[in-house]
Amino acid sequence: MIEEQAKDFLETRPWLSGICDSQSTEELKTNYDSWANTYDADIKEDWSFMPANIARTLSQLLPNKDATILDAGAGTGLVGEALAQQGYTNLTAADLSEKMLAIAKERQVYKALHQCNLEDSQIFSNSVSFDAIIAAGVFAYAHAGVEVLNNLFGLLKEEGIFLLTIREDYRREMQTALEQLPWTLVSEEDFPIYDEAKLMYLLAFKKE
Ligand SMILES: C[S@@+](CC[C@H](N)C(=O)[O-])C[C@H]1O[C@@H](n2cnc3c(N)ncnc32)[C@H](O)[C@@H]1O
Repeated sequence: MIEEQAKDFLETRPWLSGICDSQSTEELKTNYDSWANTYDADIKEDWSFMPANIARTLSQLLPNKDATILDAGAGTGLVGEALAQQGYTNLTAADLSEKMLAIAKERQVYKALHQCNLEDSQIFSNSVSFDAIIAAGVFAYAHAGVEVLNNLFGLLKEEGIFLLTIREDYRREMQTALEQLPWTLVSEEDFPIYDEAKLMYLLAFKKE
């Protein structure tokens, strides 16, 4: 019965297994480039609530609407759009996939867009840092792990806010790395995702 449910679930979301089966960052980039044009429509049912939730949570933690915000793994810019709707003005997008970023650019909510691999230790020049960093849908299997977490942490200002989504199974794998960083968990929400049995967490940390 459970296996049948899982089969139905994947049949209605063929993009999910394609993306999560990526064997390398290069393959992930190619897969997102190919997916870019239908991404928004495909994820609407499962994910459309999340960007607005993220923007609402950030506005409770960071009232300054001119704060510098990095949307790490911005994709097609759904989070940037929700942040702009909350009044945030100083948004930077970073993503592996040029095609995803091209769609993000069309939304006209980002001051700057960077095509990059967040695994690279030098994503920006040394002087760049942010009041908040958001990584939505990025810490996931075949996506970002500890290396990306540490790189992004280095780009966060003192007392900066780091907001990330993470599914409960992947959170267990990242738990030690999340706990080791000098920051405090200041907000935790959870939402059922994909099949009702799985939870997606929205976590916010404040850097010490
Ligand atoms: C599931 S999408 C989420 C997009 C967007 N944040 C949203 O909520 O709709 C994951 C995004 O992370 C990007 N990504 C994954 N690993 C990355 C990496 N190592 N460097 C840069 N971007 C990465 C992918 O290209 C993709 O656009």
